[in-house]
Amino acid sequence: MGIHVDPVRDDAVRSPASDHSGAPATVQPVTWTGTGIRLLDQTRLPEDVVYLDVTEVDQVVDAISRLVVRGAPALGAVGAYGVALAARQAQRDGWSPEEFERATERIRAARPTAVALSLGVREAGRHLDAGVAAVVAAADQLTIQDAQRNREIARHGADWIGGRLSERLGRGPLRVLTHCNTGSLAAAGVGTALGIIRELHARGWVDLVHVDETRPLLQGSRLTAWELSAAGIPHVVQVDGAAAGTILRGEVDLAVVGADRIAANGDVANKVGTVGVALACAYAGIPFIVAASHDTIDPDTATGADIPIEQRDPDEVLSFRGARVAPARSGAHNPAFDVTPAALVDALVTERGVTEPADRRRPVPTT
Ligand code: MRU
Repeated sequence: MGIHVDPVRDDAVRSPASDHSGAPATVQPVTWTGTGIRLLDQTRLPEDVVYLDVTEVDQVVDAISRLVVRGAPALGAVGAYGVALAARQAQRDGWSPEEFERATERIRAARPTAVALSLGVREAGRHLDAGVAAVVAAADQLTIQDAQRNREIARHGADWIGGRLSERLGRGPLRVLTHCNTGSLAAAGVGTALGIIRELHARGWVDLVHVDETRPLLQGSRLTAWELSAAGIPHVVQVDGAAAGTILRGEVDLAVVGADRIAANGDVANKVGTVGVALACAYAGIPFIVAASHDTIDPDTATGADIPIEQRDPDEVLSFRGARVAPARSGAHNPAFDVTPAALVDALVTERGVTEPADRRRPVPTT
């Protein structure tokens, strides 16, 4: 499969791959080119591997809103590099401080649920006085840090699973369920939940991964399955509605998912559909594991009820691949995320280690 750079979103630039198996082992969803941000256009995977170069704030906001770039850690990186672009545009076009402020606020607000986007914008903004190069260096640093955290999360998560499920492992490798995409398309390194799955696979502990397709934008079937194919990890894609039944039939040994924001009380916002997986795991008595960098725990958000949940375009639900599937008069409810109560989370894995929020005796540390 060829890889193309698409500076102007030119639909003629494509690289079809009939079997969708040409994905590299890991990918870089966000990179700084020296003049702008290069984004792997995730709306076009797995058919086409196309990169989009963005150089203006409007393009950054559009790319975030359309999910060209998505996944909490990748949003943090694009937020930070977006501040560098805004600073350059401000110099070039003679923006007032208020205009600059409005531009960075538009980037920050493009998706409200993942706290990483706000953190990326805020961290980059702290370096503005030192010039654009310093802002870019700060964004680079966030990226390097994220890749290191991914490795730690993978190790801690696999260690915890090895300990908790040691008896089960004695009978053979594990059946894992995951929801949405938390791999290298969503982060700077191996990812969070998918990083743990990679590590389990490297240890010979994975029999099969059940990948929820993740309606309505199919991050599971388009993105996670693409990454697992490339890594040679056995998997099946299932519709979201199959998850609870698969778990209750005893076909899954554990579920591992990512997080967009974790409230101070341990409640977890993640892709819509996650709470149903958590409930089924609790009923079946199998571990429900959340993996995220420690700064996903937001001390300024007290409980899950305080997490802003992004509502998206009704068309994402009412139409499929551009064709309307629901009756013309039907409306849609399209929250992009849901909140899983801390009481349903058996393990919260960060780069610092593992806490067990479902165990009320051990509250989630926020500092
Ligand atoms: O809407 P998305 O695709 O940005 O949602 C992504 C998720 O919900 C992920 O699980 C989360 O961001 C963690 S990514 C490491």
